Amino acid sequence: QQDNESEDVFSVPNYACQRRTTLQNHNTVLTEALSILAENAELNEEDGRGIAFRRAEAVLKALPRAVRKLTELKGLPCLGEHSLRIIKDILEKGVSSEVEATKQSERYKALKLLTGIFGVGAKTADRWITMGIYNLQQLQSSGPTLNQAQQAGLEHYEDLNQPVTRAEADHIGEIVRRVVLCVLPGAQLTLIGGFRRGKPTGHDVDFLITHPEEGREVGLLPKVVSLLKSQGFLLYQKTTKNSYLESEDRPTQPSSNMDRFERCFSIFRLKSHQESAEVRGNGSESRPKSWRAVRVDLVVSPISQFAFALLGWTGSKLFERELRRWAGHEKAMSLSSHALYDTKQNSYLRAASEEEIFAHLDLEYIPPSERNA
Ligand code: CTP
Ligand code: MN
Ligand code: MN
Ligand code: MN
Repeated sequence: QQDNESEDVFSVPNYACQRRTTLQNHNTVLTEALSILAENAELNEEDGRGIAFRRAEAVLKALPRAVRKLTELKGLPCLGEHSLRIIKDILEKGVSSEVEATKQSERYKALKLLTGIFGVGAKTADRWITMGIYNLQQLQSSGPTLNQAQQAGLEHYEDLNQPVTRAEADHIGEIVRRVVLCVLPGAQLTLIGGFRRGKPTGHDVDFLITHPEEGREVGLLPKVVSLLKSQGFLLYQKTTKNSYLESEDRPTQPSSNMDRFERCFSIFRLKSHQESAEVRGNGSESRPKSWRAVRVDLVVSPISQFAFALLGWTGSKLFERELRRWAGHEKAMSLSSHALYDTKQNSYLRAASEEEIFAHLDLEYIPPSERNA
């Protein structure tokens, strides 16, 4: 009996960074439902609830087959009462009324639409909803003050809400690499974020830039940005200087993922590949737009911090959060995108590769394609 029972019960490790999570999973109806509730909590700035649903979602993503009955989930970590209730409803009735009601709710729809504008976060969206703004038309007509990012976001709303393809990411990579090498020969450009995890599409394209000689990367980004701008590739950009000091590093909130690298959040003007053919055959009326706007993030790291930056910017967001929670709670270490600090030895642990960081943390190495928690 005991053997029978254990065969039917799932088991997964507690932390997402101990699990191999591929892009595909066997429980998408359940994970998509929990993802809606997580997103709704995040949009309402209920961070604790958001994390709880994300963790539950990630546990289901890691299961080796579809869940058939609730009892199989006995003993799994991170499945709270609320998540279990959602799973139960879906297993029994095919849908969760709470999830369906959330998807239909005017507030959820408005928060999603408004935060879909680049530069608009949950706080701003909430303030606008309080002013009676639920859609883009109402936003245009009631005209609250928009900062430059939001103006650009609104102007390119449609383009920026179209998924970016891998081919587009690679095309942008070629453009950025050419400019980076022109400014600093020997510099290295790495595709990070969701595309490094193997996602076929993304909401933006993320790149990490470094140079094998420490210090050579200083001052690089403003030059790259101004060259890209002069060549007509940037519709918007905001560059932030590096503010990292090792002595100050000890992240006081190990759960926060803010880092201090020099970075640029931008909107790229990407020419369509099929442009010439389409425009040629089309005369003057209603010619298709020959370019599209794409969100691009550039981050610069000194080579000594490169492995940490690479690990920290590859994601997924939950995987990162779980790595930091593991480091803090299980190892008395503090992990950031800059460094790993051992609070018992009072020292920084150096690493030249992601593999070395996992080893310092006593974790089995998980490749990017299996960090899709
Ligand atoms: N990140 C970060 N600091 C920020 C923004 C993002 O460290 N200020 C990290 C995130 O934790 C994530 C990675 O950078 O690990 C990429 O973030 P993002 O582009 O938002 O997400 P993706 O996983 O790339 O997903 P998408 O395909 O939607 O872009
Ligand atoms: Mn991304
Ligand atoms: Mn990004
Ligand atoms: Mn994601």
